[in-house]
Amino acid sequence: MPKYETIIKGGTVATAVDTFEADVAIQGGRIAALGLDLGGAERTIDATGMLVLPGGIDAHCHIEQESSTKIMTADDFYSGSVSAAFGGNTTFVPFAAQHRGQSLRDVVNIAHERAGPKSVIDYAFHLIISDPTENVLGQELPALIMEGYSSFKVYMTYEMLKIDDHQMLDVLSLARRYGAMTMVHAENNDVINWLSERLLTRGYVEPKYHAVSHNPIAESEASRRAIDLARLADAKLLIVHVSAPEAANAILNARNQGLPIYGETCPQYLFLTAEDLDRDGMEGAKFCCSPPPRDKAGQEAIWLGLTNGTFQVFSSDHAPYRYDETGKFNAGRNPTFKKIANGVPGIETRMPLLFSEGVGKGRLSLNQFVALTATNAAKIYGLHPRKGTIAVGSDADIAIWDPTWKRTITQSMLHDNMDYTPYEGMEITGWPRTVLSQGRIVVENETLQVARGSGSFLERQPADPGVELGDDAPLNPSRTFGADLM
Ligand code: URP
Ligand code: ZN
Ligand code: ZN
Repeated sequence: MPKYETIIKGGTVATAVDTFEADVAIQGGRIAALGLDLGGAERTIDATGMLVLPGGIDAHCHIEQESSTKIMTADDFYSGSVSAAFGGNTTFVPFAAQHRGQSLRDVVNIAHERAGPKSVIDYAFHLIISDPTENVLGQELPALIMEGYSSFKVYMTYEMLKIDDHQMLDVLSLARRYGAMTMVHAENNDVINWLSERLLTRGYVEPKYHAVSHNPIAESEASRRAIDLARLADAKLLIVHVSAPEAANAILNARNQGLPIYGETCPQYLFLTAEDLDRDGMEGAKFCCSPPPRDKAGQEAIWLGLTNGTFQVFSSDHAPYRYDETGKFNAGRNPTFKKIANGVPGIETRMPLLFSEGVGKGRLSLNQFVALTATNAAKIYGLHPRKGTIAVGSDADIAIWDPTWKRTITQSMLHDNMDYTPYEGMEITGWPRTVLSQGRIVVENETLQVARGSGSFLERQPADPGVELGDDAPLNPSRTFGADLM
């Protein structure tokens, strides 16, 4: 009788801190042993020449989600999770998005109805809070946090989503009380509107003006303000999809002061620039996302932020709107930049792009890659040590990575429900060959191996304030007023 269900043999295991030669034994969906000569197994996976990495965690993606202008994303929980799996992910954390007037409980129930029968990988939900009413803050949100929905995103821009600073303080202080994480889309709405009005009245309507209207100052001002509001509320805060170097600097400064401020960035800020929005005809619409891609110098600043302690999380912000009337051109075939659906796809290309151009080109160590794509998200969002690492007792969520596999990205090889990829034609070295989730083989031989709905919902614990990454100072010791006010 073999000792284990599965052994992954002959590979190089990498975690966020170590790289070592070991076989990985799996039993009951978990990692049962690491080492050499572990004994027999019912199934042996040969990983000679391969890297054995924790499955990726995409902690920012929009799946089967209606935008505030009522456009449904092209990916549902089936196509979105399949695409994620082929890109080396074993967990994703899409949003359960509240639109104004909606009960948060209803929003969460809808998200479960959508995900449960379809997702092929494990999932949790961040909430989006756009309507922090007395009932939401007093009843629904505390109850949901205690049930494990321990992170939520708020917006400082988008007319139908944004909350004001007063509401932000309410949300932050509640998050502090319950140990939850607030994520913020930091762009100054008035700055964007002021610039947009001036551009539109002068006839500057093409997609490239999206990037002009979303000036980096809109992002850096809002980021600094969000950090200050978090300081006032003595709360932790994660600034999502950072693109502007000044915003990145604000995060690093805050972290250097010992504040529990975290940063996330995304592939579009490493591999695209504002010039992509100026492609022929309406092609630039494919690259309209918020904040927008910046310039070459901005890309370098974001690369630097991945290694100097600015960014802990590298997510896709997969926001799939097709290049047709269901998506980008929902408001007509020739819209002004204001009416183009915001967002770019990238759930399947996130990890290969970072591996190839980061690890492959010597900008990141393999351990930094693992931390940025899996471990840190697991720690920050209350999934660690079950997820995000390779350790005895952790879920057997593993991407067996071929560091020499060269492929040119084309939309036809991807598994999402999109009709374009912003990365068409890029030559990438290093892709996952085999992906296991809780010990089940999800992807093998370039083929999906599991049924719809085989992923599980993950109940999360609120993380303890200040201890997530092990390198954070305690919460702001200089708070000026008592806990009774918070
Ligand atoms: O342009 C973007 N990023 N669209 C997705 C929604 C968001 O704000 O993350
Ligand atoms: Zn956002
Ligand atoms: Zn997003």
